[in-house]
Amino acid sequence: MATNTLPERPWQEPKQPIVRGAFIVMEGLDRAGKTTQVEKLANALYESGRNVETMRFPDRTSPIGMMISNYLQSKSEMDDHVVHLLFSANRWEKVKHINDTLAKGCTIICDRYYYSGMVYSAAKRNPNLSIDWARAPEVGLPRPDMVVFLNLSTEEAAKRGGFGDEKYETSEMQKNVRENFVALKDIPADEGQDLQVIDAGGSVEEVGKAIWSQVVPRVEEVEQGDFSESSTGNDTAERRKFGKEVRKVQPWNDSWEEMTTGIVN
Ligand SMILES: Nc1ncnc2c1ncn2[C@@H]1O[C@H](COP(=O)(O)OP(=O)(O)OP(=O)(O)O)[C@@H](O)[C@H]1O
Ligand SMILES: [Mg+2]
Repeated sequence: MATNTLPERPWQEPKQPIVRGAFIVMEGLDRAGKTTQVEKLANALYESGRNVETMRFPDRTSPIGMMISNYLQSKSEMDDHVVHLLFSANRWEKVKHINDTLAKGCTIICDRYYYSGMVYSAAKRNPNLSIDWARAPEVGLPRPDMVVFLNLSTEEAAKRGGFGDEKYETSEMQKNVRENFVALKDIPADEGQDLQVIDAGGSVEEVGKAIWSQVVPRVEEVEQGDFSESSTGNDTAERRKFGKEVRKVQPWNDSWEEMTTGIVN
């Protein structure tokens, strides 16, 4: 990797002090426009005077990421559980970086996260790999401040070009993935609260505008220390102290596990 290139979005002095950066995740089916919209949103937030970094999962540059990449390209075979845990480990190896980046006041726009991780593994419909099992290693990861789910029918996705050669790029997998995402947004757990569904069927500009109008108010809340599980009090100093904390992914309770049984496995 080149070391002498300038960072894509060099640090700029914030216009006003902020409590922390926001952690925003873009999710959706293959070809829903995630990568397009991650860049668009990151550029627009940067132009509005904020510090922004983009990330993507899997991060294929680490040794674990390279193992995942080989698997996706069918260069190696792995048990479904093993590859699932590698995807999860690939997120865990970035936790310190995520927390440090947010703490220094830089917002992260992330292309896929643990939602894809659990939904894709469950979409394999392996009877021994339930969505609960898939979610367990994700508990404790930094919880996003918002997850934008770009919703696109499989037919619309197909119009944006054929499937690639990688492992999960089949119509059966994509159908199951879509069903799983839709089921997740209805459960009363973190995922149900975090997922904001956006119609991804419009033009790049239209989808970008819809994302912007959802994301900016949340980014502002986070920046001001007003968005945190503990920050419900009226005392400003207290709220800001808690507002520094990035929430963590919480375990599902038994009733949520029951709600997902049979829907997404
Ligand atoms: N709103 C849109 N309307 C039409 N085409 C689009 C739109 N957004 C993106 N595209 C095009 O669709 C293709 C897929 O977009 P993109 O790579 O952003 O999707 P993705 O969700 O990141 O896909 P993947 O899951 O494969 O990484 C690209 O050719 C892109 O130019
Ligand atoms: Mg992409």
